[in-house]
Amino acid sequence: MTKQASAMASPDLSSLSSDAGGLAEAPVEAFTAVRNETERRTAPLSAEDQQIQSMPDASPAKWHRAHTTWFFEQFLLGEHCPDYRPFHPDFAFLFNSYYVSAGPRHARHRRGDITRPSADEVTAYRRHVDAAVVKFFREADAAKLREISPLVEVGLNHEQQHQELMFTDILHAFAQNPVSPAYDPSWRFPAATRSGEDWLALNEGIHTIGHAGDSFHFDNEKPAHRALVGPVRIARNLVTNAEWLAFMKDGGYRTATLWLMDGFATASGEGWQAPGHWREIDDQWQMMTLAGLKPVNPNAPVSHVSYYEADAFARWAGKHLPTEMEWEVAARAERLNDAFGIVWQWTRSSYSPYPGYRAIEGALGEYNGKFMVNQLVLRGSSLATPSGHSRITYRNFFYPHHRWQFTGLRLADYD
Ligand SMILES: [Fe+2]
Repeated sequence: MTKQASAMASPDLSSLSSDAGGLAEAPVEAFTAVRNETERRTAPLSAEDQQIQSMPDASPAKWHRAHTTWFFEQFLLGEHCPDYRPFHPDFAFLFNSYYVSAGPRHARHRRGDITRPSADEVTAYRRHVDAAVVKFFREADAAKLREISPLVEVGLNHEQQHQELMFTDILHAFAQNPVSPAYDPSWRFPAATRSGEDWLALNEGIHTIGHAGDSFHFDNEKPAHRALVGPVRIARNLVTNAEWLAFMKDGGYRTATLWLMDGFATASGEGWQAPGHWREIDDQWQMMTLAGLKPVNPNAPVSHVSYYEADAFARWAGKHLPTEMEWEVAARAERLNDAFGIVWQWTRSSYSPYPGYRAIEGALGEYNGKFMVNQLVLRGSSLATPSGHSRITYRNFFYPHHRWQFTGLRLADYD
């Protein structure tokens, strides 16, 4: 263990999670369920598939599997199990992601260069750590289980975040392959809901934003605070591929006046003419999906658009992107279609700390807080988000040029 890791031996995790009572009662079941889901998502991938890093922002599936394991080894076993011996002395260096407090680490953009350990060795690493964690849970008394439950809960939610990245990262890799391989030939894009009136009107009011209560949350969802929201109208429906095609046909990607300057420079520099993973074949737009290359479905929500594109589209439509506060108030009203489970929705809110936010002490304080600059908040969840991982107060965040996640938008208006 590093000096820095031991500095978080007894952190106050109350701002990450509190009252993890359910987890303390059945930790083996909760732990095993999440760990198994990672391996279920890995099952269709060959060892070669698990190796590829198709761009610096994406990581190999093998790395995701090892890194999520390192998280438990470093922060749970390393701090709370005096008898535990790390599986391999080099793995902390190879599989630490960005935790400066936890010691030096391999370069993020070189993760695909690591052919060893092999995928099978990573499987053995996972089993070693799984066995040690389960043994620890079984031998711990109730007080110890209560003490470590918030940390375990962070570890499980962390692994779920990487489960989503496993899908988006392998899709990006397969999208670079000219033969368009399918992760799962039977996979289907989820059906969108369209019903009722198109707009949800919110009157001006003071609302509580952020997480209140004791259920699991990340620290960036707190403190709950009051904010003035409205009047605003929020689109009940997600923007569709048909609407996006109209934007494209109208020269949206070529019309500089629709774009932020950084956005137009990025779109021009990257040669963007359509959302990510789209290809024009014989005058027909196709998109790379987890089932391989498929015709663009006009009725499906648009996906793989960056903030820059979403912002330009909103301007073209004569509308706006909502703030994250507006999104949260509308979602609480339970009248948004597909708020969860298809695409994350860009908001125009900067990823900034809520009033009074402080990152926790120690290495886990690096989880969210140090990223609170130059990124935009996305709300909701996507088709790749594991079940049970989404919340109305969840704040996802990416840089404005990123579009390899399942990212779309809904509009707002102020007339
Ligand atoms: Fe991570």
